Amino acid sequence: MTEIVNPRIEEYLRRRYDDGDPVRLEMEEMARARRFPIVGPLVGRLLEVLTRSIGARRIFELGSGYGYSALHFARAAGPGSSVHCTELAEDNIRLAEGFLTRAAVWDRVTYHRQEATAALRAAGGTWDIIYNDIDKDGYPAVVELAHAHLRPGGLFITDNVLWSGRVLDGEDDGKPATAGVKEFTARLFAHRGFLTSINPTRDGVAVALRL
Ligand SMILES: C[S@@+](CC[C@H](N)C(=O)[O-])C[C@H]1O[C@@H](n2cnc3c(N)ncnc32)[C@H](O)[C@@H]1O
Repeated sequence: MTEIVNPRIEEYLRRRYDDGDPVRLEMEEMARARRFPIVGPLVGRLLEVLTRSIGARRIFELGSGYGYSALHFARAAGPGSSVHCTELAEDNIRLAEGFLTRAAVWDRVTYHRQEATAALRAAGGTWDIIYNDIDKDGYPAVVELAHAHLRPGGLFITDNVLWSGRVLDGEDDGKPATAGVKEFTARLFAHRGFLTSINPTRDGVAVALRL
C-alpha cells in the first residue's frame, strides 16, 4: 500500500487549498524535482490551522529540510513569533534562508545545524508546538522529550505515522524505520500526558494534546 488518501480526493483538496503562493509552489516544485519528502500542501494547511487555533508563538521543529513545514508554522504564528528548525544538511539550510527570506518570515526562524533531539535538549524551555519529522528510527525517543518540553495545552505533531501503510498487520517490511514508527505510536497512545488523534492526511499526522 502506498496511497493512503484516494488520489482524486487529494487533488480535490489541493485545489480547495490553493492560495497561489509563489514561494510555497516553488518549494513544492523543488520537492518534486529532487524527490525530497516535504509534508505537502494538505498537511501544511493543517499545521497552519493547528498553530492559529492555540495561538502558538514558540514552535520547535525536529527535522526541517529546506523549510517547507517551517514556512507554514512561521506564517501562522505571525510577526514576532519564534520558529526553531533543526537540520544536518548545510545546503538545505541555505535553501531555507533563500525561500523564507523571500516569504518574509526568515526573521522569525532560527536554524540549528545539529541533531534535532540534541538541539531541543540544548535549547531547553517549553514550547507551544513541537513538530517531529526526523528519521523514523529515532521517533520512539521523541515522545518523552516532547512531553518534557511542551506547555500544558501545547501540541506535539508528528508526520508519517501511517508510513505508507507499512504499520498495518501483514505489511511490515521489517526495517528499523517501520519498527520506529510502530513503537512511537504505541508509546504515544499509551502516554497519560497526551491525548492523541491521528489525521489520515497524506502519510498520517499524529496530533497529541499535552495534558
Ligand atoms: C522528511 S524531511 C523534513 C521535511 C520538512 N519537515 C518539511 O516538511 O518540509 C526530514 C529532514 O530532517 C533531517 N533530519 C532527519 N533526521 C534528523 C535528525 N535526527 N536531526 C536533524 N535533522 C534530521 C533530514 O536531513 C531531512 O532534511
